[in-house]
Amino acid sequence: MAEWSREERYRRLEDVESKLIEDLKYQVSTSKYCQIFHIQPETGLLNDPNGLIYFDGKYYISHQWFPLGAVHGLKYWFNYTSKDLITFEPQGPILKPDTEFDSHGVYSGSAFEHDGHLYYMYTGNHRDEDWERHASQMIAKVNEDGTIHKFKEPVISHQPQGYTSHFRDPKVFEHDDEFNAIIGAQNNNELGRFLLYKTVNRQLDHWELVGEIHTSLEDFGYMWECPDYFKLDGEDVILFSPQGLEPKGDKFRNIYQSGYIIGELDFDTLTFEHNEFIELDNGFDFYAPQTFVDEHGKRILIGWMGLPEIHYPTDDEGWAHCLTIPRELSMEEGKLRQRPLKALEKLRTNKETALGYANKFTRVLHPYEGTQYELIIDILDNEASELYFELRASKKCSTLITYNTREQKVTLDRSESGLLPDNVTDMTRSTILDTPLTQLQIFVDTSSIEIFCNDGERVLTSRIFPDETASGIKTSTESGQVYLQFTKYEFKGDR
Ligand code: FRU
Repeated sequence: MAEWSREERYRRLEDVESKLIEDLKYQVSTSKYCQIFHIQPETGLLNDPNGLIYFDGKYYISHQWFPLGAVHGLKYWFNYTSKDLITFEPQGPILKPDTEFDSHGVYSGSAFEHDGHLYYMYTGNHRDEDWERHASQMIAKVNEDGTIHKFKEPVISHQPQGYTSHFRDPKVFEHDDEFNAIIGAQNNNELGRFLLYKTVNRQLDHWELVGEIHTSLEDFGYMWECPDYFKLDGEDVILFSPQGLEPKGDKFRNIYQSGYIIGELDFDTLTFEHNEFIELDNGFDFYAPQTFVDEHGKRILIGWMGLPEIHYPTDDEGWAHCLTIPRELSMEEGKLRQRPLKALEKLRTNKETALGYANKFTRVLHPYEGTQYELIIDILDNEASELYFELRASKKCSTLITYNTREQKVTLDRSESGLLPDNVTDMTRSTILDTPLTQLQIFVDTSSIEIFCNDGERVLTSRIFPDETASGIKTSTESGQVYLQFTKYEFKGDR
């Protein structure tokens, strides 16, 4: 792919002829990898989910967006609204890089409600003549008519002493009758940290530094991006995306990680007594997740199904990435469980079921097949050493999920999945379950797979780029027999 010059990357959408955008849109719409029930960009590159909120009877779901191609260039927020979190109305760019403080990108941030109005707090990314980065935290109010009023000055103009300009991604929450913002930071020793700010008398233009949140993760990567703080079932949770961790066995295999710590945060001393860091997802493509509370009071998580610094097959078609399906979080035995949003059941059509045995010799080729579907596999009795499930299978490709019974290990093998992203280490991702595998709930879209193991105990999320004809579903074992119940629903998306 041709290198993008700095000038091309920082070209504003507003300065481009509409014909170019129409051509780009057309090019993307003809891609054979277009998703049907995931949010993907209509042109260009999507990254982090931003400003997630249920406000005034509607969901607002935005994402980081560079409109002009599949590179990390000048970032906007592209917004969708939704009544149900399964169908989405594109609203176009909601925050644009149009002030001196966010001239080089409206970076990630969050949404909150104040006095009946919707606000965003986000990072303004500015580069000076020497291309030095300056990060400030900004606030924008969404007026009733949908127009944006940005506060004139950043509400936090720069990072505090002792920290570098890697200072971004404020997540706002309420605590003790003040707005608080947890912000990703890097200290001068190049170690990832969290900083906490709060308002004075709830004045949105008056924030003070509370301090650094002290964790036991002293030396845990060089930058912590996209933090999120919330309480679930009486426990304090911080989600974040650390950069710079070394792989450790099956853990931390991707270029960057995202996960969480659970414990007790003392807001007076800013000490967080917490358990070990746990990755949220064990697949190839998952980063920068954020959460919000839905209309039923449930904590919902959405992630970016992609990672930086990797070349994806659709890059050459002028688009990249998508968001994950929304997942409902719950706290169970000291860990987070992630279950697919219940409302996704509304997308189900054409139910097909099958009950049967599979073993080494009877490699069951299921009569049903598909390229966009939900498949639930209940493992009713398992005497096999290893189970094999092949999805999006054809003569030439197949995406393979294996389960090793003795080790309780689930592996996703992408080596035969079709086109592969470049710059990714290894072809497999694995995770050892806490309990024997009893169920897989799998969401397959045109170019992605999300595998929920044991009712949300573990999730593996990945992009795959198979042939359009790769629609088969097969089961077999290494040795021994397994008794299974299959339930498959075709999925009808709105795109
Ligand atoms: C995470 C991230 C954020 C930043 C944004 C810029 O993917 O690097 O830290 O705000 O993307 O697009």
